[in-house]
Amino acid sequence: MINDQKICFSGVQPSGNLTIGNYLGAIRNFSNYSDAYKCFYCVVDQHAITVRQVPAELRRRTYETLALYMACGLDPEKNTLYVQSHVPAHAELGWILNCFTMFGELSRMTQFKDKSSRHADNVNAGLFTYPVLMAADILLYQTDVVPTGVDQKQHVELCRDIAERFNQIYSGTFTVPEPMISQSGKKIMSLAEPTKKMSKSDENPNAVVYILDDKDTIIRKFRRAVTDSDTCVRFAEGKDGINNLMTIYSCFTGKTMEEIEREFDGKGYGDFKTAVGEVCADALAPVQARFAQLLADKAGLEAQMKKGADEASYYARKTLSKVQKKLGFVPVPRG
Ligand code: TYM
Repeated sequence: MINDQKICFSGVQPSGNLTIGNYLGAIRNFSNYSDAYKCFYCVVDQHAITVRQVPAELRRRTYETLALYMACGLDPEKNTLYVQSHVPAHAELGWILNCFTMFGELSRMTQFKDKSSRHADNVNAGLFTYPVLMAADILLYQTDVVPTGVDQKQHVELCRDIAERFNQIYSGTFTVPEPMISQSGKKIMSLAEPTKKMSKSDENPNAVVYILDDKDTIIRKFRRAVTDSDTCVRFAEGKDGINNLMTIYSCFTGKTMEEIEREFDGKGYGDFKTAVGEVCADALAPVQARFAQLLADKAGLEAQMKKGADEASYYARKTLSKVQKKLGFVPVPRG
């Protein structure tokens, strides 16, 4: 608790152009917590280097991700917005928690299995221990809730296990967090292969709609989306492509699946795909406009970065000191 408020934490990697999956599954929902919770939203640049990054791009995307947080409605006065590497306590607690996480637990992480097969030439230790750093991010702030898409649920569950293990050995140290998986946009699928998650690292740009794509591009991508040989817009098993488009349409309009089926009754897939593109582009237009303004003001972004780092460091150091004391680390002697 901070000032009688429960705590919310989440993070996004600045490792590629953010997609409507990141938006609908995570970032758009972050502001729902801003009033009732004390919120920390982090740009997790240290996570991004588990896969090779071009330094100039990582730098640019770090600014962009912070700007997108704000463009998506996160007020920096109400939320602590900051960059992970600016708060060294993340890496420090990460190391400590490595010593409380089992090899077998990390071996079972599906994201590790997936990423290590996609980057077989660089299966580094950081990729393997990535969920431990993620646990440190969350536990440093005594977090109660973690809003994410469904793909991060397994990592939050591991974080709970690590917290419970530590608490059992050293008595209550960490709050045990709950994953908060949004109902509607928890797993947006690829437009090209709708059984696969939409991912910012997908090599096929037509599989992915980026938050910053312009209207024509968005409509073109939706019009090319893979569907099926049926012609009727309905949500049903085996219709992965249409189910995904209906989910996206529902997220942007608030309409239920039944309402969408009725709206497109008697119309073809072509009309439906254009309509999905239109609602998506129209919803993203104000975010894009605000993003452009924010990004143009680098000094403004840096001021927010600094303020966020100071705020986050204050709370992070408190937890880290508590942990270090429990472990038996000697504090730096005063004077
Ligand atoms: P990342 O950067 O891959 O994704 C950021 C957020 O977007 C969600 N997401 C999706 N949701 C729905 N459909 C999709 N296709 C989709 N793709 C991505 C993710 O679930 C995530 O919420 N490990 C995290 C970052 C992280 C973190 C944390 C998150 C680091 N520390 C602590 C929460 C708490 C990651 O790689 O997210």
